[in-house]
Amino acid sequence: MRGVGVIAVWLAGVVLLSAGTAYAGWENSSAEEVKLLALKPNIDNGFRLYEKYCFECHELEGWGSPDGEFPVVAGQHRSVILKQLLDMRNRKRKESDMEEVLDEKDLKSSQALADMVAYVESLPMSPDNGLGRGLDTERGGKIYAKHCADCHGKYAEGNSKKSYPLLRSQHYRYMLRQFKAVRSGERGNGHPKMEKIAKGMSDEDVFAVLDYVSRLKPPQAQRSASHYLLETLGNINNR
Ligand code: HEC
Ligand code: HEC
Repeated sequence: MRGVGVIAVWLAGVVLLSAGTAYAGWENSSAEEVKLLALKPNIDNGFRLYEKYCFECHELEGWGSPDGEFPVVAGQHRSVILKQLLDMRNRKRKESDMEEVLDEKDLKSSQALADMVAYVESLPMSPDNGLGRGLDTERGGKIYAKHCADCHGKYAEGNSKKSYPLLRSQHYRYMLRQFKAVRSGERGNGHPKMEKIAKGMSDEDVFAVLDYVSRLKPPQAQRSASHYLLETLGNINNR
């Protein structure tokens, strides 16, 4: 019996320790996310739902608007899209303009959400996302490597396992708006560690780092055909 007591104390310690880590709850997907991501998606149904409920704002290609009002959603990790949709539906992510659409009956089932997020992830990314002014990108790259790459990845490819967003090909102005909303806490669901880093940064640093990120390009496999065409034309023009 004594052994059991020791194990119980040890277990309690482990539970306390893990609950006590600074970012508990952030490193794992919620039970609802795990359940949904395990479903086999029907991409055709995802397309149908996207076309009906999402395209009027995010555009048919999922490329949003360079003025930053509507984000690029194409090519984002499924886990990230799903987390954002659930956070918005649960009013954890605030002021999203999407609460109404997420309350649609058609989008209530787990399967419908799984279909839609898989479809959005499969879309090729934008060839000409909105960029910053290009004034200070070298410094931006240094700030990125030091403060952001750990979570968002060296090439801003994100981390699907941890639901950290992919940032490359996102519109500069959208990122700026979101970055400020995370910094002020307004977004509601920002990562506390990112919030802390953001609070210590000047606006100039923020402009520089996001400008740098907006210029990172996805690998060929994630690009659209027009992406390829634009680049090829660019090369011809530069000759
Ligand atoms: C009425 C316009 C509108 C409709 C319809 C809409 N969205 Fe959005 N969506 C937005 C806006 C605006 C944002 C940015 C929210 C913010 O500013 O916080 C957004 C943000 C998102 C995000 C978060 C992106 C990120 O990287 O932060 C995802 C994912 C998303 N929408 C997916 C969808 C899907 C899927 C649908 C269809 C079910 C949809 N949206 C329908 C306007 C819309
Ligand atoms: C501890 C990990 C972490 C660090 C460090 C971090 N971020 Fe984030 N970032 C996140 C997570 C997680 C989210 C999404 C939060 C959520 O679910 O809403 C996010 C969201 C964002 C968004 C909004 C993306 C979107 O699609 O809505 C931008 C832009 C961003 N981060 C930029 C940065 C930059 C630039 C840095 C460095 C200065 C940075 N982050 C540092 C974890 C991190």
